[in-house]
Amino acid sequence: MTQLEHLTPRRIVVALLVLALCVASAAASWALGRSTSDPLGSPAGRVATADLTPDLVTNVAYQQALVAAPTGRPKVTVIGTGGTIAGVATDRGSFTDYRAGQIPIADLVDDLRPEIDVVAEVETIQFGNKGSGGYTIAEFHALTLAVEKALKTSDGVVVTSGTDTMEEFAYWLDLTVQSRKPVVMTGAMRPTAAGTVDGPGVIGADGPANLYNAITLAGSRVTTCFGTVLMLGDEFHAARDVTKTSSYRMDTFQTRELGVLGWVDGTNIKVGRAPARVAACDNPQRWATPFDLSTITAAAIPRTEIIYGYQQAGGEGITGFADAGIKGIVTAGTGAGGISSAQSAARTAAVAKGVVFLSTTRTGSGSVYGGTTGSVIAGDDLLPQKARLLLMLSLAYAGGDVAKVRTWVSTIGNPEWDTVASSAGTPPGQLKPAA
Ligand code: SIN
Repeated sequence: MTQLEHLTPRRIVVALLVLALCVASAAASWALGRSTSDPLGSPAGRVATADLTPDLVTNVAYQQALVAAPTGRPKVTVIGTGGTIAGVATDRGSFTDYRAGQIPIADLVDDLRPEIDVVAEVETIQFGNKGSGGYTIAEFHALTLAVEKALKTSDGVVVTSGTDTMEEFAYWLDLTVQSRKPVVMTGAMRPTAAGTVDGPGVIGADGPANLYNAITLAGSRVTTCFGTVLMLGDEFHAARDVTKTSSYRMDTFQTRELGVLGWVDGTNIKVGRAPARVAACDNPQRWATPFDLSTITAAAIPRTEIIYGYQQAGGEGITGFADAGIKGIVTAGTGAGGISSAQSAARTAAVAKGVVFLSTTRTGSGSVYGGTTGSVIAGDDLLPQKARLLLMLSLAYAGGDVAKVRTWVSTIGNPEWDTVASSAGTPPGQLKPAA
């Protein structure tokens, strides 16, 4: 194999973006580092805004977002939905025995004062206060509209949630928020208070630091055009690719094959790589997804479900969903997407009834390829729970056009890189045009 053959489309995307972002990152680090080294240690020195030198940054819209900092502190809205970060433990030493979704988000932000007031002008919205798994798709729809509304007047938004389905909150927002301003998800693996909502802090609670860093990151504007990012334990990840890998560990969030986007080290925000969609920052239409939720009601979003693959799995699950009128099913198959004979037969029958399938793997990483026509679509490296959200939104907007669903599934947030010249004469090495 030659050196060039190692350059898979994904590697080329990542390499080019790293190159572009290195420039921006170097400039951001310079600007942010300058703030940190303020010899007087003045309050203004804590503000992580990036006053970049324009000609150091190649992406015009990205550059403008960073240089167009308002005078003074950035404005950040924190939208609380509950989870462990809002949790109350039985005592200060209890990390696992607690009630999630108890402490109001305004109190969590107040506990960061006065320090957070130096970082940003923060306002809070209590969207809900419960465990992450309790949210419905209708509530997700409303959350997107709340984020969009907040971004009309704020420089960035932080959304707090439980960590169990935080990756789904994050990817949903990534797919649906039309604004290019920063959206940062955060939460905690340990509850914040002991005894009562205003009780003493749980030993080693990670929530306060995560919230502080998430506000710092959102206010810095460094993730402009990144879509939604997920920040925990000083690391931030792309919503599409991050996943919760452990039920208890503090470093539970991992982006298995691609790694973190960057780190928040005090006021130094380091960007190691960027999601591919930042390349479209200069073109708002191309940057945005087709899923503008202001144009549809929550009721218009069809139910989609997930079926797991395993040894001699029965087909009744698929048949039952199809009979119940489910419009889309994601299979979390073995290896490169394999499903059992019974599931395969049930799938064929369901397709005949108009159900659209998205084929993914239960392995937790790696891709599923194949099938360029028909109602069984390859989900590439999307995790099943992420694929379900993309399928759901695609079905809602495609108006029954399965080819459109297929195109969106294979392009949105997952740009294919043309490795050969297209028939239209596009030279190799270009992002395929957006659908
Ligand atoms: C939840 O997801 O709401 C509970 C678990 C957590 O926040 O870590």
